[in-house]
Amino acid sequence: MVTLTINGKEHELDVPGDMPLLWALRDVVKLTGTKFGCGMSLCGACTVHVDGMATRSCITPVSILEGKSITTIEAIGNEPEGAELQKAWLDLGVAQCGYCQGGQIMNAAGLLKQNANPSDEDIDNAMSGNLCRCGTYTRIRQAIHRAADAVEVKV
Ligand code: FES
Ligand code: FES
Repeated sequence: MVTLTINGKEHELDVPGDMPLLWALRDVVKLTGTKFGCGMSLCGACTVHVDGMATRSCITPVSILEGKSITTIEAIGNEPEGAELQKAWLDLGVAQCGYCQGGQIMNAAGLLKQNANPSDEDIDNAMSGNLCRCGTYTRIRQAIHRAADAVEVKV
């Protein structure tokens, strides 16, 4: 039995401790916004936050997550960075097929928590591990700038 706090709610899961968080989220808790891309920490599609840090859920076993706060794409809109990112994503029409975009937004939210006003280079460095087969990188960068500006105005 593993107890996880996901999006502010405790879940008691009858799963093995070495189960990757991604599977627990998708198959057990039924939060399917977090996507499987590679399963090897190579694409970023599975990105969630653990205590506010962008984390790849496909390689993170549930056993190390008890007592930590897990946030998924389903709840990132409750935080200022997430809300502004989602708005900017929609305003700029960032998504193409959409498959990678939850992970992109989660990684971008992790960046904005650490760096409220990132440069192009900061964004490229932070986002370089999040792959998009549809090539939305330019609009992702624009949307992160827009969200950063919006969060700054509200603070
Ligand atoms: S599915 Fe986790 S990094 Fe690709
Ligand atoms: S929008 Fe299609 S993979 Fe990124």
